[in-house]
Amino acid sequence: MSTTVPAASTTPAAFQPPLRLLTGPGPSNVDARVVAAMSKPLIGHLDPVFWDELLVMADMIGTVYGRSDGASLCLSASGTSGMEAGIVNLVAPGDTVIACSGGFFGHRIIEMLRRRGANTVELTVPFGQHVPVEQVMDALAAHPEAVMVCVVYAETSTGVAYPVADLGAALRASGHDALLYADCVTAIGGMPIEADEWGIDYAYACSQKCLAAPPGLSPITLSTRAIDRLGRDGMSVPYSLDLAEHLRFWLDRPMTYHHTTPNLQYYALGEALRLSLAEGLNARYARHADAGAYLQAGFQERGFELLADAGCQLAQLTAVCVPEHVDGKAVQAELLGAHNIEVGGGLGPTAPPIWRIGMMGVNANRPTADRVLAAFDQVLAR
Ligand SMILES: Cc1ncc(COP(=O)(O)O)c(C=O)c1O
Repeated sequence: MSTTVPAASTTPAAFQPPLRLLTGPGPSNVDARVVAAMSKPLIGHLDPVFWDELLVMADMIGTVYGRSDGASLCLSASGTSGMEAGIVNLVAPGDTVIACSGGFFGHRIIEMLRRRGANTVELTVPFGQHVPVEQVMDALAAHPEAVMVCVVYAETSTGVAYPVADLGAALRASGHDALLYADCVTAIGGMPIEADEWGIDYAYACSQKCLAAPPGLSPITLSTRAIDRLGRDGMSVPYSLDLAEHLRFWLDRPMTYHHTTPNLQYYALGEALRLSLAEGLNARYARHADAGAYLQAGFQERGFELLADAGCQLAQLTAVCVPEHVDGKAVQAELLGAHNIEVGGGLGPTAPPIWRIGMMGVNANRPTADRVLAAFDQVLAR
């Protein structure tokens, strides 16, 4: 039998992606310095020089999360794995967990809890709203055995912000020792996170939104009491997501091998974190707030409605309701095809017709908002 390898002439042409403005729900565009960081020399994941950089990164991730005690690190996986790692490490099958949902990602947490075999108390609200803190506290009073409360700080599917600081304060005032678990995927680098002050025990995020690094990494943070609960009662945790192993890899020296890290991705995230800190976190949050408010005012002046209630509207993600007579998907396709602008649509089968527009990372500024608004004007005028 012949084993001839096809001739080189059949090799496909080099991939050349178009230059897009990424103003959807993520990824967002990255700074040239972040891309350049990925062309630095590759070294191994057990090289002591890389170990030192991991410690620097752990420190920067802790700063962005507002964490001084506990531990912060990064998973070599996307935000979804950060979501799942918190559940499989902190929830044993049969544990009671209170989970809040007003959108796609809140529902995903509930689905992960179901697969973990948790006894989930589901608190759900319509898209555009968040579960009131009082309702969470009522559920906790009814379920004193609950081990964790889960919320999505910035619900990317609806543009709604959760009042995590208020929930943390209410939890502490109640004296209940349930852990507070917060999805910070769309929040990190774009709005304040104060893990210590608000009492967040476990939070996870991603690299590709307001931090403006390439996708595929999940910075996480744990409080001291969350760390103390790892491996509770010998519960079984998938090896790749075992946070006790990750903590050893990231923070113990000499380093213990856990997995081969995607080091070039880490260089990029390290550079994006340095750029965020050099800008100043408060200045960065103010820039996101200004860009989001400006974009939202632009849509409202044009007569569009926003999905999120005004009191909980995120700046970095705006869900604009598609008017009845407009084909939202066709508009998205034309923005992409004719203007090289990516915006998102509704996420999941139950989503209302919306466009989701991100003002994230390097794109969080008024000129970018103007470019998006002008493109919408042109497409809708047709
Ligand atoms: C709020 C939220 N949580 C979780 C995720 C999952 O992150 P990833 O797609 O990086 O796995 C996303 C992704 O957009 C998100 O917006």
